[in-house]
Amino acid sequence: MGMKITPSILNADFANLGGEIGRIPSADGIHVDVMDNHFVPNLTLGLPVVEAIRATTDKELDIHLMIEDPDRWAPAFAEAGAETITFHVEAAAAPIRLARELRALGAKSSMALKPATPIEPYAEMLAELDMILLMTVEPGFGGQKFLDQVLPKIRRARELADRTGQQIRIQVDGGVSVETIARCAEAGADTFVAGSAVYRAEDPDAMVNELRSLAEKAVPSAG
Ligand code: DX5
Ligand code: ZN
Repeated sequence: MGMKITPSILNADFANLGGEIGRIPSADGIHVDVMDNHFVPNLTLGLPVVEAIRATTDKELDIHLMIEDPDRWAPAFAEAGAETITFHVEAAAAPIRLARELRALGAKSSMALKPATPIEPYAEMLAELDMILLMTVEPGFGGQKFLDQVLPKIRRARELADRTGQQIRIQVDGGVSVETIARCAEAGADTFVAGSAVYRAEDPDAMVNELRSLAEKAVPSAG
């Protein structure tokens, strides 16, 4: 599986999201952070804005739901035409049922873990997933410092995912930058969210390409 860079628009100009997405033509997808002020102490955007983004771009949409009760709300984001829907396991009442429902709606199913949530209890259900999102900061805000403590979990998640015999992406989110992306890739991540690193760069599209090439260089065989 090739390395994918999916920039987060959390630190982009919310009054001009179409234009902001247009600045990163090299991105492999657009990571959209949905926060409800309950699961995390921040409030961002919801379904109507995701529908508006869908209408403005053909890029793959990667929706990261940091919300309570994803069992109830996540399917609507698949129905809105987003390619990948990520729910948090800490918030899901029935993660297997939800993952199956998302796939039945034609979306890729993805499950996120906060930094302190272990992967092992979910080993037997990973085959239900197309992607695992490992948070490398506490969710809620962009611009935080990368947590190196998560690196061993990236390694274990990669092993457990490979054991299923299926192609499961491992995405990292939080503090991913030119400083940290190589160690994530070495540990087994193949999909990288970068918010402030991309949108605070002078040339966001050049940064997308630089990040991808650093990830590829860290794992020469993964190309
Ligand atoms: C944080 C979000 C991230 C965030 C990443 O809760 O899930 O997607 O926007 O931003 P940076 O790359 O600045 O840490
Ligand atoms: Zn995110």
